[in-house]
Amino acid sequence: MSQLLYEGKAKKMFTTDDPDVLRVEYKNDATAFNGKKKAVFPGKGKLNNAICTKIFHVLKENNLPTHFIEKISETEQLVKAVDIVPIEVVVRNIVAGSLAKRLGLDEGTDLGQTIVEFYYKSDELGDPMINDDHALATKIATEEELAEIRRQALSVNEVLQALFAEAGILLVDFKLEFGKLKSNGGIVLADEISPDTCRLWDKETHEKLDKDVFRRNIADLPETYEKLLSRLEAVK
Ligand code: C5P
Repeated sequence: MSQLLYEGKAKKMFTTDDPDVLRVEYKNDATAFNGKKKAVFPGKGKLNNAICTKIFHVLKENNLPTHFIEKISETEQLVKAVDIVPIEVVVRNIVAGSLAKRLGLDEGTDLGQTIVEFYYKSDELGDPMINDDHALATKIATEEELAEIRRQALSVNEVLQALFAEAGILLVDFKLEFGKLKSNGGIVLADEISPDTCRLWDKETHEKLDKDVFRRNIADLPETYEKLLSRLEAVK
């Protein structure tokens, strides 16, 4: 028996016969600005599933723990069940998006160092930015969990910067979520890593290969994701 456990903006999660395993289905929906902008793109779910699967395989080869088990169809994956830590972790290498706005910096400025930001996952509050002290004081996470999350986020950044560099792509910034495995409480990377959750620019032209093409009406989303996938597939 498979039951719908959760439906998000871009994915559905279902139970499986094994309580430690869930089935994820990637939808064709795209949303931006906290759901204020919406569209459906036939083929998007398939593209994100393929891109995310490639990324999770590369992370696994580099011994980074993730919830990913396997891709089981064009739009579906099996993943390990976790309790999500309610923090969105944003990692930034180049100035873009909300960082450019908040600090009045030019998009495209190389930061010269990596910035890790934490946001409290709350639709009601609009995912406010928090620091370590907020997370500890409100018991969102322990000191050990925050340290482990930061360590894993920085390792993911190194591995993915190298992967995308091979495809001639800059990893500008991205969002990660972490969960505690239902089986043993270990912290693993959960959720997706896809062009919905990353900013990816062509190294030479700075052409955008991510959801900003939809947010900012720059180009066709499926065509852009298809281009990204074929460039990633060309990397061994
Ligand atoms: O909007 P902002 O510049 O803070 O986004 C930073 C990065 O995090 C972008 O790659 C964006 O796609 C991702 N992000 C996300 N989900 C959110 C917020 C940001 O995937 N809720």
